[in-house]
Amino acid sequence: MVQILSGAASPPGTDRPEQRRQLVTAVPGPRSQELMARRTAAVPAGVGTALPVFVERAGGGVLVDVDGNTLIDLGSGIAVTSVGNAAPAVVSAVAEQAARFTHTCFMITPYAGYVEVCERLNRLTPGGFEKRSMLVNSGAEAVENAVKIARAATGRPAVVVFEHGYHGRTLLTMTLTAKYRPYKAGFGPYAPEVYRAPMAYPFRWPSGPQRCADEAYERFADLVSTQVGADQVACVVVEPIQGEGGFVVPAPGFLRRVAEFCAAHGILLVADEVQTGFGRTGDWFASTFEGIEPDLVTTAKGIAGGMPLGGVTGRAEVMDAVHVSGLGGTFGGNPVSCAAAVAAIDMIESEDLVGRARRIAELALPRLHGLAERHPQVADVRGRGAMLAVELVGADGRTPAPALLADVLRRCAAEGVIVLGAGTYGNVLRLLPPLVIGEDLLLDGLDVLDAAFAAALAGPVHRSTGP
Ligand SMILES: Cc1ncc(COP(=O)(O)O)c(C=O)c1O
Repeated sequence: MVQILSGAASPPGTDRPEQRRQLVTAVPGPRSQELMARRTAAVPAGVGTALPVFVERAGGGVLVDVDGNTLIDLGSGIAVTSVGNAAPAVVSAVAEQAARFTHTCFMITPYAGYVEVCERLNRLTPGGFEKRSMLVNSGAEAVENAVKIARAATGRPAVVVFEHGYHGRTLLTMTLTAKYRPYKAGFGPYAPEVYRAPMAYPFRWPSGPQRCADEAYERFADLVSTQVGADQVACVVVEPIQGEGGFVVPAPGFLRRVAEFCAAHGILLVADEVQTGFGRTGDWFASTFEGIEPDLVTTAKGIAGGMPLGGVTGRAEVMDAVHVSGLGGTFGGNPVSCAAAVAAIDMIESEDLVGRARRIAELALPRLHGLAERHPQVADVRGRGAMLAVELVGADGRTPAPALLADVLRRCAAEGVIVLGAGTYGNVLRLLPPLVIGEDLLLDGLDVLDAAFAAALAGPVHRSTGP
């Protein structure tokens, strides 16, 4: 049990909050509940809320809520605050840039920060070839632009994506996304010329993980050759580890064979590294683990320490295939976001946050395997670096157990630990801690997770969860 302290919320300030879990009220507290009532009256229900706790300030690996509770953040605002929330270097860069100018529109009068971020993307993304980058506002916009560029460069219409994939919420990226509810339900008709192949998802592959890579590849190649026409495909868009789909790590060798197929047929390979990029998986980009050099890479989330920014990086000849003024947008590559990105990337390099991601795996993976040993409902442990997950099932070892996940998440939140759910079947618990998280804080969060599983599984409900 966390210590419940009496007393009011700490006054808001610029000091880094103490890196310690501390609850002074129940979670959510009364002020959060008041704000939630205002939110319900002012914001549509369609914009969901995973945890009705309103944040007042944040720093490093904690969030301080409006009631004065300090919660451990094992979600990083969905893989965004990798360098820590309100990282001092990012805050200074933002303040300094905002004081100079906040906007000009790069397409009207350019500025150096945009070019600087693009140079870094060109250097850091996989592939030794000459590259170009463009900047946008979000991950979805990055994926949209990657498809536009691939179509312009190839003169072909079709896009091939995968089961369990997630690429955003705009019309095209919602179409590329696999999961129907909540992402697509009621929002059709969808964009044309999008085709979906099976993902090499080892835990759920019907004939077992050993045959997964070969069989999934055969089905992909068959779909493209017999149903779409390889000469009609502009690009294949794939996450090197699927994010919202449940941290599915493709069976080894699958993506390499997909990449070879693409190269053989003039199809561009787009790696959607929006969630996996910038050190999250223990390398700068997760494509590296798969031995692939994508033609185009999309980025966002962890690029700018919490400021909105996305990018498309690709082979120079592909990126340059688009006519002048065919790409852009009013806010894309905002100067304040660019300043934040340069500071965040500097920090990832100078503090070896890529190495920190690997260290997080060293600490957290044995704990997750321990959960799996103790509880048969924890059926699969997977992920890389600081992108780790467990898949929860019923008594048959296979049927998804979303109610168990919801129970565990609720128990963690009540004890002051923010953990996220994911998965096509809503039964995957994922950890995405800030890469700067202190080891004590991480271990405390994992202790709470252990206790939440033990308590949830002690009750009759989930012990008997079955088909
Ligand atoms: C792999 C991937 N692509 C694209 C997106 C969409 O990014 P955004 O929410 O910034 O539009 C996400 C968001 O979760 C993602 O995980």
